[in-house]
This record gives sequence, structure tokens and C-alpha cells, in this order.
Amino acid sequence: MDNIEALFKPESIAIVGASRTPGKIGHEIVRNLVEYGYRGKIYPVNPYANEILGLKAYPSVSSIPGKVDMVVVVVPADKVPSVIEDAGRKGVKVAVVISSGFKEVGREDLEEEVVRIARKHGMRVLGPNIFGILYTPLRINATFGPTHAIPGSVGFITQSGALGIALMGMTIVEKIGVSAIVSIGNKADIDDADLLNYLREDANTKVVLIYLEGVMDGRRFMEAAQNFTLRKPLIVIKAGKTQAGAKAVASHTGSLAGNVAIYSTLFKETGILEASTVEEAFDWARAFSYLPSYKGGKLIIVTNGGGAGVLATDVLAENNINLEEPPQSLRDKLRPKLPGFASLKNPIDVTGMISNEGYVDAVIETLKNESVGAVLALYCETAVTDPEVIAKELIERIESELGGLQKPLIVALIGGQKSYNAVATLNAKGIPTYPMPERAASATAALITYSKLRESVKLRIDELRGITNA
Ligand code: ACO
Repeated sequence: MDNIEALFKPESIAIVGASRTPGKIGHEIVRNLVEYGYRGKIYPVNPYANEILGLKAYPSVSSIPGKVDMVVVVVPADKVPSVIEDAGRKGVKVAVVISSGFKEVGREDLEEEVVRIARKHGMRVLGPNIFGILYTPLRINATFGPTHAIPGSVGFITQSGALGIALMGMTIVEKIGVSAIVSIGNKADIDDADLLNYLREDANTKVVLIYLEGVMDGRRFMEAAQNFTLRKPLIVIKAGKTQAGAKAVASHTGSLAGNVAIYSTLFKETGILEASTVEEAFDWARAFSYLPSYKGGKLIIVTNGGGAGVLATDVLAENNINLEEPPQSLRDKLRPKLPGFASLKNPIDVTGMISNEGYVDAVIETLKNESVGAVLALYCETAVTDPEVIAKELIERIESELGGLQKPLIVALIGGQKSYNAVATLNAKGIPTYPMPERAASATAALITYSKLRESVKLRIDELRGITNA
């Protein structure tokens, strides 16, 4: 097991600074590890305690009898170097340093000392100034965030601690399943590139989302990102885009926010999808984590409301995605089933007088058509239809007639309480569904844009190879 793997798959974890007092960070991390169901060995380390949460406590890492793969360090900053030295001597592979009080407050010297000691022992360091790491496949919750994260396939790397913890809570409420949440903080040693290289190979992670304030080594980041995006989608929220924001970044994690335009260009070149808001980033991540990838073919909008169709079309056009006419075979299929005044252009407007069954039927027929590569289904709640019935029938027919989704289907259900309930029902069944047409359209655009970016990254790499081999 290499050191980065030990961060995700440790067989034993020591928490140094495991407090006896509930509510203190060092106590809550032990509790989270126990309550979330980590099956490896947990060793609380605290020279003043005999036991914590029923687990035997040790005065130091070196006094633990068994091997220790990971230490989580939760002692004040000035005590961290000696803890790292002790853990290094013990042969620990990776240290997760929660403590603040390093580069972000001008103590570069202390941060460098920690890394120097760790390197001497061949140990890697995550942090400092972080809230920890979560890896759901092995039920590791070594954070002081919420306890019960929902397992899934989104990997989330965050440079911001408090925002990261808050978003961890949000994923639970929004039922966005995660494989990993990694707080990366000051990035004294382990950086985004290390994590991307690991998560690229991780079978439990389908998409990665990074909240990024700045990178130390741009070339290294871009190389890792490019290798990553050839395999899996990578969504980045770049914070510190304005001058004022960049200043805030400097005092937050001590990073340089850099030139916004340069970042955006490099992101595109390496196949990164840049989200402008946190909401957008998670909307996209949800779609990528649920759906099969887009493999070309027409994108068709099916809607029962013209306005929703127009709003979605605008969002797609802003993302350089133009809608083509639906295939004739699909029009022939739908024409006899729809009111005479329905539009069979793209968006296909099945009209507000369509029944529950008629609406679901139109979506299923569109999904079945061979020339169709993705479907964006928009629905406005009316008195003649019931979104909860629509959601249920859609789920049933996708299962019974299509054997599950073979191509992307993104849904927006716009309306009152019943629509909100139906949004949750569809999401729980792995059909990405949003309460607004623009959000569904934006997620659709992300899926298609990723496949285009990936192709252009591939092409560019092939060209470069051609030049080098010539
Ligand atoms: N080895 C092991 N345990 C030790 C040692 C040692 N050498 N020395 C002391 N301890 C024990 C203490 O006795 C205490 O246990 P107790 O409560 O049972 O007495 C425990 O370790 C913790 O030590 P304290 O001195 O009480 O430290 P405290 O818990 O107050 O603070 C902390 C430590 C949390 C690391 C603090 O210094 C810190 O950095 N806080 C900020 C953390 C943070 O926010 N990180 C960024 C996250 S992201 C975000 O913004 C949310």
C-alpha cells in the first residue's frame, strides 16, 4: 500500500489529541470514526486519558502495540512537529493534520518543519488546517463534520474547511452520494494532483468536484487534471475570481488565487468543467454520478410547457449546444399520440393538456429512438397532471422497457410541493432531477460539454504524440 492509498484505505488509524471532552474536535473525530462504522483499528492517543469512547487510549503513537497506517493530528500547532516525529518513527504512512496555525497565519516555518520531518520518515501529510477525510466505501469518517454521509460516487476535494463541512451536510440533505470528501487546506504536501491521480483509478469514484482557491504548482495540477479528465469528469469551482476575492483567498489558505482568465483557459484545455456556483457544481456532479456517459446523438427536449423549453434552450445555446430537429422516426411515432397543436420541433412541446401517461410515453419513446443520444424532460405542474404519478410511472417504464437508463435522461419538475416530492423520488432512483429548467439544462450542457472537451483533449494529445514521434 503506498502512502496516498493509506489515506483512503488505512487498516488502522490513531487520533492524536483525542479529547476526553465531547464537543471538542479531537473527541468528535473519534466518535465519527466509531459511529460511521470504520472496521479497522482505532487508537485514541492522549497522555492524560485511559480510554475514550470505550477505546483504550495510548500516551503516544510509538506506544501503540500494532502497526499504524494513518494518524489524525488534533493538537495545537506548536505540538504538531513532535507528534509527526513520533509517528514517523513508528512507520506511519500518512498524517492528516487538522490543526490550524500554520502558513495561513504566517507560520510558514512551522509548516515547513512538519513537512521536513514527515519526508525524513517517508510519510505524507494532508493539510494542515483541514477538517479531515471521509471515504465512504470503507466507512472512514475521520472528520469533525456530520457523521452519516451518504455513500455514492462523487469525490469532493475542498480547500475550504468550514464551507466543505457545510457542503458535506448539504450532500446529506440533498441525497448526493459521495465516495470521498477530502479537506485539503494549506496543501503543505499532498495536493490536488496527488488526490486526482488516486481518484482517477478509484473504482468507487465516477466524478470529482474541487473547490479550488489556488494551486502551488500549475503545471503539475494541469497534467494530473488532463490525465483525470481523459477517464472521468472533473468539475472545478474556482474561488477568488475578483481582486477582492483573491485578497480573501490569500488570508484564508495562504494561496495565490492567480489570474482568472488564465485559469479558465487552462481549465478548458485540460478538459475541466468550470462551474460558476457551488449549486451548479453539485447539480452537475449529481448528473455525472447517476448517468451513463453521453456518447453522441441528438439531444431532445420534451416539455409540457413552452416557457420551460425556451429557458432550457437559452441555457444550452449559451453553452454552444444547438438543438437539432427530432428524427423523423420519432415524430412519426409521437404525432398520432399528441394533440394536433403539439409542436414536434425541438423542444418537443407535448402541451399542457397532456395526461400523466401521455407525458411519460413521450419521454420513453424519445429515449427509445436510436438517433437520440440524450433527453432533457421538462415538466410544469398543472391541474390535469400529477408529478408524483409521473415520477413513479417514469421509473417503472424505464426499468421495464429500457432495462434502466442506457443514455442520459435529465429531468426538471417545476411546481409546488408535489413536484418537490417527485424531484426527490426521481433522484433517489438515480434519475437526476431539478426543480428548475435552467438547472436541468445546465447539467445537460455539462454532460455534453465534457464529452466534447474530452475528445479535444484526446485529439491534442494524439497530435502532440504525432509531432514528437515524427
Ligand atoms: N498528544 C496527544 N494528545 C495531547 C497531547 C499530545 N502531545 N497534548 C495534549 N493532548 C490532548 C489534550 O490534553 C486534549 O485532550 P483533553 O481535552 O482530554 O485534555 C487534546 O489533546 C486536545 O488538546 P487541546 O490542547 O485541548 O487542544 P484543543 O482541542 O483546544 O485544540 C486543535 C486543538 C483543535 C487542533 C486547535 O489547536 C486547532 O487548530 N483548531 C482549529 C482546527 C480547525 O479549524 N482546522 C481547520 C478545519 S477547517 C475549518 O475551518 C472548519
